[in-house]
Amino acid sequence: MATDEQKVTPGTGPRHVACIMDGNGRWATSRGRPRLFGHHMGARRVKEIVRACPDHGVKYLTIFAFSTENWKRTQSEVAGLMKLFRRYIQREARDLLAEGVRVRFIGDRVRLDDKLVRLMDELELLTSRNDRVHLTIALNYGGRDELGRATKRLAAEVAAGRLSPADVDETTLARFLDTHFLPDPDLVIRTSGEARISNFLLWQSAYAEYEFIDTLWPDFTKAEFARVLGGFGARDRRFGAVTA
Ligand code: FPP
Repeated sequence: MATDEQKVTPGTGPRHVACIMDGNGRWATSRGRPRLFGHHMGARRVKEIVRACPDHGVKYLTIFAFSTENWKRTQSEVAGLMKLFRRYIQREARDLLAEGVRVRFIGDRVRLDDKLVRLMDELELLTSRNDRVHLTIALNYGGRDELGRATKRLAAEVAAGRLSPADVDETTLARFLDTHFLPDPDLVIRTSGEARISNFLLWQSAYAEYEFIDTLWPDFTKAEFARVLGGFGARDRRFGAVTA
């Protein structure tokens, strides 16, 4: 539980927080351990952060677990990550269900192995009635890839005569994105000192606030999460307008 001074005043905190969980590899290497060990410790933090969300009024948490570019890593790291995702789903499903977490995945499932996709589908179905926290896991996700796939589906609708080009606007395109069920993120947090967005939620983050912090993801505690959320209330979000 967050202490009173760490808690965000309801209504002032971000409702949707997105996290680029960076720094697992460096965290492990600096300890003389294999990179996969860092990913395992990173997965523990995921659990801690998800659990902290209701304390701060965070209804939606979206995490970047594997990007469309991450396939360029060594085969053993990719295989280790895929195994970690499978085990995470198998091990955490019961707690996620009991804790009111609704889990959904975004990203292109085509390249993922069948067993992982089956587990993803099952977890989505299992938790589909939950509404306490909405956890969205981006797996084989890239913002440009998502926009490309969305545009392809939209173009097919137009070609089939079900959609008129005159009716295509921002709202229409957003309906074809993987994130069609999500509000836009209010705050994007990236750990590990890198100030990049790395193809994450490109469309959806148009008006998000960004917080780049030096901490490596496996060291990102719920106390630091609370501190970052606390700072959000002080920001002046104008969405392109002028403050009165
Ligand atoms: C980036 O750190 C992290 C990843 C590519 C994987 C993120 C995965 C987890 C946190 C594992 C758990 C996730 C779930 C959903 C169970 P990096 O490897 O790029 O670190 P580096 O920049 O220090 O090399």
